[in-house]
Amino acid sequence: AEVSMETIVALCKRRGFIFQSSEIYGGFNGFFDYGPLGVELKKNIRDCWWNDMVRRRDDVVGLESSIIMHPKVWEASGHVAGFSDPLVDCKTSKQRFRADQLFFSPVVIDGKTVGYVSALESERTTEELQAAAESFKRKKALQGTLAPVTPKDFTEAREDEHALIPSPATGEPGSLTAPRAFNMMFQTNVGAMTDGSSVAYLRPETAQGMFVDFKNVVDTGRVKLPFGIAQIGKSFRNEITPRNFIFRSREFEQMEMEYFIHEDADWKKSHDEWIEWCRSWLLSIGLPESHLSLYTHPKEKLSFYSRGTVDIMFKYPFGVQELWGIAARGNYDLTQHANASGKPQEIFDEATKKKFVPHVIEPAVGTDRIFLATLCAGYAEEDVTDEKGNTEKRVVLRLSPRIAPVKVAVLPLLKNKEALTQRAQALYKKLQRRYAVFYDESGAIGKRYRRQDEIGTPWCVTIDFDTIEKPGDTFTLRERDSMTQKRITESDLFALLEEQVY
Ligand code: GAP
Repeated sequence: AEVSMETIVALCKRRGFIFQSSEIYGGFNGFFDYGPLGVELKKNIRDCWWNDMVRRRDDVVGLESSIIMHPKVWEASGHVAGFSDPLVDCKTSKQRFRADQLFFSPVVIDGKTVGYVSALESERTTEELQAAAESFKRKKALQGTLAPVTPKDFTEAREDEHALIPSPATGEPGSLTAPRAFNMMFQTNVGAMTDGSSVAYLRPETAQGMFVDFKNVVDTGRVKLPFGIAQIGKSFRNEITPRNFIFRSREFEQMEMEYFIHEDADWKKSHDEWIEWCRSWLLSIGLPESHLSLYTHPKEKLSFYSRGTVDIMFKYPFGVQELWGIAARGNYDLTQHANASGKPQEIFDEATKKKFVPHVIEPAVGTDRIFLATLCAGYAEEDVTDEKGNTEKRVVLRLSPRIAPVKVAVLPLLKNKEALTQRAQALYKKLQRRYAVFYDESGAIGKRYRRQDEIGTPWCVTIDFDTIEKPGDTFTLRERDSMTQKRITESDLFALLEEQVY
């Protein structure tokens, strides 16, 4: 069965993966805190990406640029003028919508359109929207309250997760304002002045850091085309409709890489190679192939400088949505910064003895979106039967050992047998030097296994009487997904971890 978002949100809260930001003050929409397990899972995703993208490649170097940059960066990049969403306000409900995401389905009463049912297009298919509109109308008809449309109807409709917006044509209160541009960059002031001269922005993407430092890296990094500059860090967007838990938030983390290629290089080939690299990387951290698909942006919807953008899509519980965008950006960004700063952003071509501005392929992904995808794909509920024949439900998170927040749980069979706890503690201490491990000596062993299943721990090792009484110093290794058990030595355990956790 498909997992629901409610289930994922509940698991995150129950086991300390994710909390609402500022929860004791009622939360803060679009902001989240990562708890003790969440911070480990997120760090593992980030580390896997960094190791594979930067350390294990000869052609990519890393960067950490500042979050607040010179305001001219955002003028040159086009964000000040163009990083905006068309926004409409509903006068009745005082709610804000992204105009380009609204789908309107007319509500017709006695041949007259009295309003529109709206919903966020990105989250529903047309069929679903039409069905939602129909069911809303049916419900109202049954209650005999179809007309006139009142703010109360609107509120009720909201509870159905779609809103009834009275028709602008009727001129009734509740019509929509005309769409207007709403810039999504957060503003702040730098220094003591609070007038226009001190305005600065929290970055809405990490990418511009790579463009602005391009020359610094070329001059100091001993890099040769083609090469990439990668960065992981926080980005901020004042999203009008933060939604779907951590999928679209106002403060999030990006992992981006700008891959610079020769102006005459086959950009299409490079683009295709990066799409494939990103796809197989997602498989390597355990996302199932069945949940991934590609979406090619239609030519007419591309920004004018983009040659092609392909998104890797993921099947979330709320629909198939963008996970990772891979864009061929031409030499737009470097050219913009060269023009705005007056500093050429060129490379010298030894072969032709000519200078040119490199072109770029950009894979850009959100860490939080990967985090959510791994939980949604990994979550399962199963019926399991114990030795006594009792059947119970277990929740299991099938996370790849690469990203699981805890790699091994060390469990002495009994807590009041010193020989067992001592051996367990020694193993625990040794594992702890290299891996995130967990020591648990309280409760029945079956219960302890279940706790680990629910947080995605791939292996449990139990130190039992055979460990201390029989030769060989072996433990019981219990595997999360198959629940099979076998005996294993300490060196075999380290070999297994070495192979699976990388
Ligand atoms: N430099 C290009 C760029 O930023 P984008 O498609 O706007 O492109 C890249 O963002 C990725 O960042 C997205 O594919 C998504 O994974 C993530 N992302 C964007 N906005 C987000 C938000 N509000 N919340 C969480 N992740 C977001």
